Amino acid sequence: MTASNYSMPQYPESYWQDEKVNGFEKLNSDVKTDIVIVGAGITGITSANLLIKEGFKVIIIETGKVMNGTTGHTTAKITAQHGLIYDELITNLGIEKAKQYYDAQEDAIKFIQTTANSIDCDFSQEDSFIYSTSDEYSEKLTNEFDAYQRLKINGSLVDSIPFNIPTTGVLAMHNQAQFHPVKYLKGLLDEFVNNGGTVYENTTAIDVEEGTEPVVITKDGNRITCKFVISASHYPFVDMKAFYFARLLPERSYVLGVKTTSEYPGGMYYSADQPKRSLRFTPYNGEKLILVSGEGHKTGKGIDTLKHYRALEEFASETLGITDYPYRWSAQDLTTLDDVPYIGPITSKQNNIFVATGFRKWGMTNGTAAALLLKDLITEKSNPYQQLFTPSRFAPNPSIKNFISYNTDVAGQLIKGKLEYVPMHAEDLQNDEGAVVKVNGKRAGAYRDKEGKLHIVDTTCTHLGCETEWNHGDRTWDCPCHGSRFSYNGKVLEGPAEKPLDKIE
Ligand code: FES
Repeated sequence: MTASNYSMPQYPESYWQDEKVNGFEKLNSDVKTDIVIVGAGITGITSANLLIKEGFKVIIIETGKVMNGTTGHTTAKITAQHGLIYDELITNLGIEKAKQYYDAQEDAIKFIQTTANSIDCDFSQEDSFIYSTSDEYSEKLTNEFDAYQRLKINGSLVDSIPFNIPTTGVLAMHNQAQFHPVKYLKGLLDEFVNNGGTVYENTTAIDVEEGTEPVVITKDGNRITCKFVISASHYPFVDMKAFYFARLLPERSYVLGVKTTSEYPGGMYYSADQPKRSLRFTPYNGEKLILVSGEGHKTGKGIDTLKHYRALEEFASETLGITDYPYRWSAQDLTTLDDVPYIGPITSKQNNIFVATGFRKWGMTNGTAAALLLKDLITEKSNPYQQLFTPSRFAPNPSIKNFISYNTDVAGQLIKGKLEYVPMHAEDLQNDEGAVVKVNGKRAGAYRDKEGKLHIVDTTCTHLGCETEWNHGDRTWDCPCHGSRFSYNGKVLEGPAEKPLDKIE
């Protein structure tokens, strides 16, 4: 088969989302429970499952469909090899904290492995490899291997990877794993429901009233009174003056699901150099679907996002040869100032409202580690990783540097979006084309759908007023400041924004 026999899927769709999942009702009344979990991804569902087994009454609410957020768009590697992290953590936080970070990931891997034993979820144990293609990164890889030895990580330097990629170094971490995240979480969710747990879909939490019995308030005005709240909604659904939006950096990346000419040799691979490239396989109708991912960039940078898919397609074609290209999708990840997630009380004053966010690209292990820690915090058991992950921590280096450069960028975006010259007019748009346009002398966003209907929105983000940019790969309006995303007709797809973009008739 030649390259002309396949083509890029017209619309993004995650392979994991092909798995059928039962729907749940929307919340339509005020209710009372012990614990409310906001967000039905890996953190929310795992926490819910652990806490119901501790005897609590637990409700999960989800703004859209369960497992449809970041968890449904991940590459689902279950590994403690999070890029070149350990040398950096030793340098910035010290060896003790670096070791705790590794141990937390290892505990999470063991938990997933044990749990996956009783769930049909395509779990397989694989080695994970990070490879360099330049001398600069070969040196970094050597430093990372030194960190492995200091932290007693089961890894080794190996000669090469089994692809046509010239490498300058390869570092393996042994006995890692991969799975189908939606099948796995479906198993956990079934168990949760069988144990008496409740799930509401299409139910958006917008606020919380503090107190000994906090109340989660939904967009429809319903109130859920409880003893504990967990925000597992990727971006925290409330900020409580803790400035999460200024302490989390949103990044988008892209995934292709392809069938290939060359037989995939097994293993999970990740490049140390830029642009990032990542490879793994998943079973697919008796064959292998290869997930090729990378091309990360800050959300809403206003470039043609299809270019990222094309770059990955080129890489896949050169590395493995493509025979079929059934899936492509994108994901959004949040990074904290020191690369360690925020898991714990949402502010230092709270002991019954918790948050878990900022997993970078490593949500399977970090999300599970978060659930294990949140369970211990709520049941008042000691947990060795509590201090490492506490959201109230303040590490002067390198946090301040990241904080200043990130927020200077946000301030720049606020001004830039308002001043920019807008050459396009809505009438100029072809079918299935979107762009920033001028309407009545003002900046607006227009998309002409496949049927020729024009959808025009005010591009000003309803979070804090930055200007959103058109993302043609996903047909969305993305905000460069804190990563909110809106559909072409303005509906909120991803927070922190809660209100839709204004429509312009
Ligand atoms: Fe904060 Fe848009 S997400 S201004």
